[in-house]
Amino acid sequence: MVPRLIVVSNRVAVPDPEGPRQAGGLAVAVNAALKHRAGLWFGWSGKVSDDADRRPTDVVERRRRTFMTIDLSPTDYQEYYNGFANRVLWPILHYRVDLAEFTAVELGGYLRVNARFADALSGFLRPDDWIWVHDYHLLSLAKELRARGHDNPIGFFLHIPCPPPDILMALPQHAETMGALGHYDLVGMQTEHDAENLRHYFEQQGGRFNRSGTGFDLDGRHVQLRAFPVAIATRVYARTARSAIRSDFAGEVRDSLNGRRLILGVDRLDYSKGITHRIQGFGQFLDTYKDWRHQVTYIQVTPKSRAEVPEYADLNDSVSTLVGQINGRYGEPAWTPIRYINRAYSRASLAALYRMAAVGLVTPLRDGMNLVAKEFIAAQNPEDPGVLVLSQFAGAAEELGDGALLVNPLEAEAMAEAIDTALKMPLAERQARYRPMYRRLAANDIDRWAERFLTALNESRQPARLFDNIRQLFQARASFF
Ligand code: F6P
Repeated sequence: MVPRLIVVSNRVAVPDPEGPRQAGGLAVAVNAALKHRAGLWFGWSGKVSDDADRRPTDVVERRRRTFMTIDLSPTDYQEYYNGFANRVLWPILHYRVDLAEFTAVELGGYLRVNARFADALSGFLRPDDWIWVHDYHLLSLAKELRARGHDNPIGFFLHIPCPPPDILMALPQHAETMGALGHYDLVGMQTEHDAENLRHYFEQQGGRFNRSGTGFDLDGRHVQLRAFPVAIATRVYARTARSAIRSDFAGEVRDSLNGRRLILGVDRLDYSKGITHRIQGFGQFLDTYKDWRHQVTYIQVTPKSRAEVPEYADLNDSVSTLVGQINGRYGEPAWTPIRYINRAYSRASLAALYRMAAVGLVTPLRDGMNLVAKEFIAAQNPEDPGVLVLSQFAGAAEELGDGALLVNPLEAEAMAEAIDTALKMPLAERQARYRPMYRRLAANDIDRWAERFLTALNESRQPARLFDNIRQLFQARASFF
């Protein structure tokens, strides 16, 4: 019998029975993992309530899945989510040590919420459940579950980058958080590069690696460490794009472009996404390649996020100012170079925009994977594909680096040149770049990704099981004689 799978993440995307089917990257991944298994998805409800600590876990059934959520108290929300997770771990893991604002109180809040997750889960766990924990909010969850006596197979996947040990060790009391990964059976990273960085960190912490570097022993525990580049539902997304391009929404956008080529960026408002650098790169493009003025429109779709974290509020101001400056400098009564939009769109609407775009700009300063890059490729029309301009610092560059135009997002001139190259690229070259990228994404889609991780989680326990069986056999023989 296939064991039950318990997925745990900070946010849980409970489907709205009234609303349309919408799924972000994490929800698509979790759905793929739960497709052929009984199981449930546990995490924060997204609600903050004064009596959070006294409220029972909320359990709902939707679309043949079980969702279990807890609320956070205002203090937990502030210390754990706005504080340690998003003002310390997020910047440091994105190589931005300069932005980290550490307080011991917030680290305490982070560890407390991890313990609270473990308490809430504990009563529901059966000994043969598999547990799959997602992302940087829950680094110490396995340690808390082990402390409560749960010896289940527990896997962890980090959706964001993992920097080298020198940067990880700038994280105050890093053994409490990064070091706690040693309590998982399997730790998955987005890229080989991230796995290599974590490997070096654990070596420095006294971990003894096997020869292939895929597993280590630390404090009497054995941990597997591997890269599992996160994927998308490639064919499903391609189908969505094919039909979305015929929607009223797509028609309106196309009409509004008035024959101009579309340059597109889609990112959460986050400093890791390199939005200000990208806009500067676009300004440089208008400056250097003057013939393209009036011929292009750059749409930047940027829903706001984490608005209560000061660095995000500051970013909102700088992006708006920069867009205003460039539109002011180059715009004319009949042409606005940049359309900057702070609103979230459905997957179908985004798919239509991707398919319409001549150029997709995905230029984060640092990104675990960046699913926009993958969705942009999946959404293209094979007969007339657009060109992806991709940051060398996105995890997706490991898989898409041969077809995309790779840029260093810090180099405005290089970004400007890449936009010009993309716009001028002949159809045959666009197709030759697109085809292998699409094939690769279709071959490693989200279903395969989930299966690979869960198979590795199962295998991570094999040596231990084997050892237990042999020991039991010897004990049985000893009592027989
Ligand atoms: O990329 C990491 C991640 O946690 C995603 O899983 C999530 O979609 C995104 O950041 C948004 O984060 P938040 O939950 O803080 O809005």
